Amino acid sequence: MSADHEQDQLYATPRPEVGDFLFDATVARVFPDMINRSVPGYGTVIGLSGILAARYAQAHSTLYDLGCSLGATTLAMRQRVTAAGCRIVAVDNSPAMLDRCRQHIAADSALLPVELLCADIQQLALSNASVIVVNFTLQFVPLAQRLPLLRRLHAALLPGGALILSEKIAFADADEQQRLEELHVLFKKANGYSDLEISQKRTALENVLLPETLEQHQLRLRQAGFTRVTPWFQCLNFASLLALK
Ligand SMILES: C[S@@+](CC[C@H](N)C(=O)[O-])C[C@H]1O[C@@H](n2cnc3c(N)ncnc32)[C@H](O)[C@@H]1O
Repeated sequence: MSADHEQDQLYATPRPEVGDFLFDATVARVFPDMINRSVPGYGTVIGLSGILAARYAQAHSTLYDLGCSLGATTLAMRQRVTAAGCRIVAVDNSPAMLDRCRQHIAADSALLPVELLCADIQQLALSNASVIVVNFTLQFVPLAQRLPLLRRLHAALLPGGALILSEKIAFADADEQQRLEELHVLFKKANGYSDLEISQKRTALENVLLPETLEQHQLRLRQAGFTRVTPWFQCLNFASLLALK
């Protein structure tokens, strides 16, 4: 594994106290390994985000990647979008993630201009957007802030513009919730995580990653003004939606 793609062993040894999960330098260093081993279908979602972005990109508009981390979605869009005069704005509020993102963009040879912004997506001014991707990031925004944020994203989109949203999801039915959680644990174990790693990471995330049901997402996207809302992918307890203005 290269220095930039270290194996995630952050929760492999017992911690006296497990604090809230932070996207700091230790996480940034192992992030590609962590997300690939933790999110079923991650590679498919990223690849398809590029294909969907290319479909909805409009000439001379901006494509946003909100919560860009190391730039996986940005690169997928950059390599697919062919509409004239577009640019990508990739935003994250973690300087450590953005530093590594900058290196990944610099190592990529595609030509679409990319601007990196260290900012809170809740405060961000967006405009002239044809595509906004929010992959696995709305789940970290406080629940009460999600509708106001989606309303602003809807307002920033051009007519025909697209929001691509991917999230960890919950299930209203307790039995289904338990079944999908168990299958997710089996997925992580099959990818080499131990019981200790899984349980400490769960504790770290429980106050910061707040999943909602697919139905709650669909309802709120409509409340935010999106008229056509289509789930396009689900793998265990992770799902992706396309919402069109
Ligand atoms: C799970 S990662 C997203 C993964 C990334 N979209 C991808 O698909 O590779 C969540 C990212 O969102 C960022 N983030 C969380 N809340 C944020 C906020 N309010 N404003 C900006 N970035 C945020 C975190 O720093 C982190 O890099």
